[in-house]
Amino acid sequence: MMVKVRAESLNFLKFTRNNRLAQQKATNITWHQAIVTVQDREALLNQKGCVIWFTGLSGSGKSTLANAVEQLLHQRKHHTYVLDGDNVRHGLNRNLGFSPADREENIRRIGEVSKLFTDAGTVVMTAFISPYRADREQARALIAEDRFVEVFVECPLDVCEERDTKGLYKKARAGEIKEFTGISAPYEPPLHPEVTVNTAELSLEECAQKVVSFLEKTDLVPTEN
Ligand code: ADX
Repeated sequence: MMVKVRAESLNFLKFTRNNRLAQQKATNITWHQAIVTVQDREALLNQKGCVIWFTGLSGSGKSTLANAVEQLLHQRKHHTYVLDGDNVRHGLNRNLGFSPADREENIRRIGEVSKLFTDAGTVVMTAFISPYRADREQARALIAEDRFVEVFVECPLDVCEERDTKGLYKKARAGEIKEFTGISAPYEPPLHPEVTVNTAELSLEECAQKVVSFLEKTDLVPTEN
């Protein structure tokens, strides 16, 4: 029997899913105030901690671009770190798959980890598909407004599929991978990203430079002389 699910029920499901996943379980816990502050750490590192959140389809170039931006910043003596979807799923998030609930939890944890990195004064780059707008907005809400830079790594699905660097699109089309983003699972593009780079039209260097230029323009990193 076919069961019709109305949009309101889906919203309700999403709501309960959110609550279930991020519920505070521990009680009797007290926040311990650190003596060394984020300002102290930033002064030591001579930089501002921030999150550069790359989002886009698998194969759009998020990891490649995040690493290119990291290299540019590292050369300028910034303390940086890349959190990469495939890598983090080997460790911290090894117990998560690709269902909507698992992706939400994946992004929730990365948002929290990014917040810690920012507090440590690091320029952190995240390269996750992060397909749901609401989940990205939740990550954004954890970070100071001027310290969260959403970068939409735009690339048409057919180009990602043509690249198929990991051979996953072929498998997804053959039905060997379920819930594959762009094929059998949704991707919600950002509505107001701070930066958009089209990796099908620009070179890697141009895309990386565009991100760094935005960081300079917003004083997140000093302009190079
Ligand atoms: S996210 O949707 O939860 O943000 P994440 O960025 O961590 O995804 O992981 C995506 C990577 O996992 C892809 O680049 C791809 O290599 C791999 N992968 C394996 N199965 C899937 C799937 N069903 N959908 C998307 N990516 C998948």
